[in-house]
Amino acid sequence: MITYPQARTCPYQPAPGYDELREGPPLRRTRLINGQEGWVVSGHREARALLADSRVSSDRTNTGFPMIMPPALAAVQTSPNRPFIVRDDPDHNRIRRMLIPQFTARRLRELQPEIEQIVHATIDDMLAAGPPADLVSAFSLPIPSLVISRLLGVPWEDHEFFQRATKAIVQALDTTVTGEVLASLISYLSTLAQDPPPGLIAQLKEEQVATGAMSQDDLVFTSMLLLGAGHETTSSMISVGVITLIDHPDQLAAFRSDPDTVPDAIEELLRYLTIVEAPLLRVAVADIEIAGEVIKAGEGIVFAGSIANRDPDAFEDPERFDISRTATHHISFGYGVHQCLGQNLARTELRLALSALFERVPTLRLAVPVEELGLRPAVSIQGVDALPVTW
Ligand code: HEM
Repeated sequence: MITYPQARTCPYQPAPGYDELREGPPLRRTRLINGQEGWVVSGHREARALLADSRVSSDRTNTGFPMIMPPALAAVQTSPNRPFIVRDDPDHNRIRRMLIPQFTARRLRELQPEIEQIVHATIDDMLAAGPPADLVSAFSLPIPSLVISRLLGVPWEDHEFFQRATKAIVQALDTTVTGEVLASLISYLSTLAQDPPPGLIAQLKEEQVATGAMSQDDLVFTSMLLLGAGHETTSSMISVGVITLIDHPDQLAAFRSDPDTVPDAIEELLRYLTIVEAPLLRVAVADIEIAGEVIKAGEGIVFAGSIANRDPDAFEDPERFDISRTATHHISFGYGVHQCLGQNLARTELRLALSALFERVPTLRLAVPVEELGLRPAVSIQGVDALPVTW
């Protein structure tokens, strides 16, 4: 029986241990790293069907939920105030609806000039200080961090604290550290949400908390979710996106030569890299018949998204990294009611950051071989903690 999750050996390739999932059934039984048994889904069609099925729950308090996160994170995800990403409808939808207007394509067009300015100022600083540079700390992390902190109204002077905290939570390497930083982040955001500076937190407080539609605790935990989700995911996509493009010179040349290729290239990077894999977890709350199997109520469901995103029934020649394909049906932002709320923001950041970087630093290259980069553990958002580059 295959174990899930397993570690990658290349930042943009599925874990070698998932090779057997490429053949045979689209879902099968798995042994999770915490000893629980469940189902691992590797078929693209079946993954989308299950993620959109109302008999499938995101609520970590349900019996049998695949709890493969560290205990400190599990404690927050099962607490009465848990963020809406780990709740089911109608609770989930009640809070999600309040946020949708902030993440529409129109709102993103309004934010674009500010994001562009952040991207260029960050490149200015990197060029002034190097070469060489650590691309993660000089570029990939500051951009989404500045964008989300301005959007939320979280003071930038505290960025060292909240960047360290979101990293420790997402990576969750050390349970004691995770517990401590989670507590400090909750306490920081609780204080901030008492009298928030202008931004989304203040707006939610004024429009939703003041009218009784949202509790003060929900405001704190929603802020924590947005701050965390807005940091590590996009920053990891930028870093691993740079590695992947540099490793595929023909694709990088095409990316550089024609700005019209950029939106499709971003979708292809999202598909090929599938950086959010092991955190996508569910449990069945009723028996579900699918692909000749029955997932019983109370059985955990995990997704080998990196394999589903390379399912030959959904993507032609799926192992090829090809920025000219239209890969918008990937499941890298999830699928169904929990599909990523920040996807328009993430796409805008990725588009602006990657195109400006390769335009302004045309000789950018990795300062160490890809094989020497330290990779994130299997349970976290996939990526690298440091990326030595030069130009
Ligand atoms: C949900 C991926 C960027 C906010 C999700 C989910 C995935 C994902 C896979 C679904 C989780 C599930 O179904 O359990 C990504 C990737 C990103 C990214 C790959 C970057 C490239 C962002 C950004 C934000 C954000 C910038 C901004 C605030 C959220 C929120 C949810 C979510 C709030 C929960 C939605 C819900 O439960 O209804 N994301 N995300 N994400 N994401 Fe993102």
